[in-house]
Amino acid sequence: MLPAGFKKHGAKLLLRFLGIAMCGIIGVLTKEGNAGKLAYEGIKRLDYRGYDSWGIAVKGSGLSIYKRTGKIGSIPNKLLQGSIAIAHTRWATHGKISVRNAHPHLSQNGKIAVVHNGVIENFQELRDFLAEKGFVFKSDTDSEVIPMLIEMYLEEGCSFREAVRKALLHLKGSYAIVAIYEPEHIMIGAKNASPLVVGLSDGRVLFASDLQAIAPYAEEAIFLSDLELVEASPEIKIYNIESGLSIKKLPKKIDINLCYADKKGFEHYMLKEIYEQEQAIINASAQNESLLNKVVESIKSANKVFIIGCGTSRHAAMLASYMFAKISKLNASALLASEFPNFANLIDEKTVIIALSQSGETADVLEAVRAAKRKGAKIISIVNVMGSSLMQISDINLMMNAGPEVCVLATKSYLAQLAILYLIANHLIGNTEQAKKELAEAAKKVPIIIKKNERKAKLLASKLKNTSSIFVIGKNACSITALEGALKIKEVSYIHAEGYASAELKHGPIALIEKNVPVIVFAPDASDESITNAIEAKSRGALIIGVSTERAKCFDYFFNVPCKELFPILSIIPIQLLAYYLALERGLDPDKPRNLAKSVTVK
Ligand code: AGP
Repeated sequence: MLPAGFKKHGAKLLLRFLGIAMCGIIGVLTKEGNAGKLAYEGIKRLDYRGYDSWGIAVKGSGLSIYKRTGKIGSIPNKLLQGSIAIAHTRWATHGKISVRNAHPHLSQNGKIAVVHNGVIENFQELRDFLAEKGFVFKSDTDSEVIPMLIEMYLEEGCSFREAVRKALLHLKGSYAIVAIYEPEHIMIGAKNASPLVVGLSDGRVLFASDLQAIAPYAEEAIFLSDLELVEASPEIKIYNIESGLSIKKLPKKIDINLCYADKKGFEHYMLKEIYEQEQAIINASAQNESLLNKVVESIKSANKVFIIGCGTSRHAAMLASYMFAKISKLNASALLASEFPNFANLIDEKTVIIALSQSGETADVLEAVRAAKRKGAKIISIVNVMGSSLMQISDINLMMNAGPEVCVLATKSYLAQLAILYLIANHLIGNTEQAKKELAEAAKKVPIIIKKNERKAKLLASKLKNTSSIFVIGKNACSITALEGALKIKEVSYIHAEGYASAELKHGPIALIEKNVPVIVFAPDASDESITNAIEAKSRGALIIGVSTERAKCFDYFFNVPCKELFPILSIIPIQLLAYYLALERGLDPDKPRNLAKSVTVK
């Protein structure tokens, strides 16, 4: 039974209440008779997205389906075969966590199976419409209307593809779907505002929420745009969902290293990705010169520049604002993407938006960018996921090339974003080569910083594991590093941590400082003004954890970051390590913190 008033407010209300919606979808059409195995392995590679139930449907001698709640477990051997298979990991939004609500969902006649990622906002009226036609629903989900609508159109004589296309025209909201029909050797995918990528290799076709899940089996990829449908039989045909007209899209070669990752011997992706920051800075710095020129031309011809993002990407935006002011004498305001609508009146065709997003799928960022585009703004995006929605709607796109970031926490993507933004700030003043040298030097410092501080971070984590609150402070650009350090600590160890511009402590927060309260201070050197603020806290009993190029007298603990030039960027590394070891000390999984998802695809 839906909560009172649900009809009026629709799915958005429920989503806001339930929080993050995240699903993973996979489809495999193959001639090798192992479609079930590839689909099953694919959803296991999507488990980092967070889920609470899962399922698979395999077309073999018939259409077999298998669904469970909880973590992905084993499946019956016969489901590892088949010519076509679809699979899904579900993060409950509409309807509680249960087998009946898990995907795939079947049509009434049991011949059509569908997996769906997204939110159908008009699902209640569609359920009512279909119920009046005699369709009986077995789940409480919004997604189940899709196979029913397809069946309805098949009964009216449509082809499978046309039945899917017409069914999708009923949907309001976001979707990425894969649908199969037992009598036919056809697999159909479609997307609108949720990610779906097509992988191809030697007669094998794979559809997935992201390349990470299918990269080991694909050599090329096609990135679908919104309102596009793809039919695989296995020939690939692509159509516009609204017009039904066919579209030509050429596949792109896949660089496996940029889209597929395993732990490579590390216990957790988080630590692996902290170590990968050296390569991430190198890759990010290797931006195409003509692309940088286009970015600079756009910025120079604009009269307003905004940098937007969420979470860690927002911190990168804020730190970039300091860089642009200091290096390029450019006023580039950093805005929280979710608050962007408040500034819509400032946006026009002379505005440039620099949108930062590792996943390229963050709903708040996509909504802000779409709103800005409607006002004529030029969109420059910096993303890590090839073919992501943000990449597709941007005028200019720079790739972080940091490799897949599987851990829910952003680490290497943060440094990659900052490296690119540092490059742009210098390219604006013709200082690119010098900036590239500094970034190359900074990359070399990453393993040194890790070597000097990892053991200290581990020891300190064992001392702080039961602390209830940690303060993180810094001055100037380090005030942003402080925000990022606090976010890392709280989201992975669940210890409350707050980041402040160090001078702000005395305007209120210092009231909270008492004996042994840990205060982390980012100070480029012992003469930095933040040291004064740290001493004020120390005189009230605080435990001072210094992150600096040199030990100051007031430090009780000292993380050594021997890199003055890009200190605000590299100094985050010891605190990434501290956060990681705090999570381990507290028996938590650093790769999948509670309540969080790698890509927040709803508002
Ligand atoms: C960072 O550690 C968090 N996982 C989160 O704040 C993240 O940065 C934010 O959700 C933005 O993600 P995006 O870069 O993919 O847009």
